Amino acid sequence: MKRRPVIAANWKMYKTIGEASSFFSSFLSEPIPNDVEVVLCAPYLCLPTLTKLAESTSVGIGAQNVHWKKEGAYTGEVSIPMLQEIGVKYVIIGHSERRAYFAETDQTVNEKVKAAVQAGLIPIVCVGETWEEREREETKQVVERQVHRAFAGLSPEQMNQCILAYEPVWAIGTGKASTVEDAGEVIAFIRQTIATIGGGQVAAAIRIQYGGSVKPENIATFLAHPDIDGALVGGASLKPDSFRALVAEASKRGDQE
Ligand code: PGA
Repeated sequence: MKRRPVIAANWKMYKTIGEASSFFSSFLSEPIPNDVEVVLCAPYLCLPTLTKLAESTSVGIGAQNVHWKKEGAYTGEVSIPMLQEIGVKYVIIGHSERRAYFAETDQTVNEKVKAAVQAGLIPIVCVGETWEEREREETKQVVERQVHRAFAGLSPEQMNQCILAYEPVWAIGTGKASTVEDAGEVIAFIRQTIATIGGGQVAAAIRIQYGGSVKPENIATFLAHPDIDGALVGGASLKPDSFRALVAEASKRGDQE
């Protein structure tokens, strides 16, 4: 099955509103290929500006986290209706930085994924092992558990609404990307895991990205792997030229198919 590559920027805690708007005008100074799904996941404060700027373009705007309740006494949190009111379409859920620094668990990931798909938001669900887990040869066990728990209680249709991102924790922000062989092996395994949970059709259709030190110079090797459907990119997504180069590489993969 042909799956449309999805390149998502994860800006983390970078960019003021002003910086986000100048990024956007510069990024859009050249046309965006329409065979690639392009997503910008920005800090909350930038989202209203970005969704306005993106209105007549093919670029999707995403948040980097969300609460699963519609409203309530949850100081500092942001709900799905708040995001949807301003036109946000995607949300990163379970990024390893949230798991490591902000007490995100498999359980909260599951609550967030369920609430997001019910509301029609597209979750980008992150999974991945730490270096210690890799050294102990527990990578598959870890991602299998994370995928099972993230998707618990979802119908195959709801699973199909999600994007997965395999991000080995040790490769994030380190400049030390995984090899395509290792990433491809884990992503193929994640696809098999999806098949056991949601069936073969979902496994064939769901997009699985690689993330962790992806750059314009190495993205093509990852996208050449038949199981890798795009990338979730931190550092290299912060400059318009570099992000445009990543999207252009993904579009070339589309040409080859
Ligand atoms: P990186 O981050 O591209 O800077 O390694 C990826 C991510 O955290 O999603």
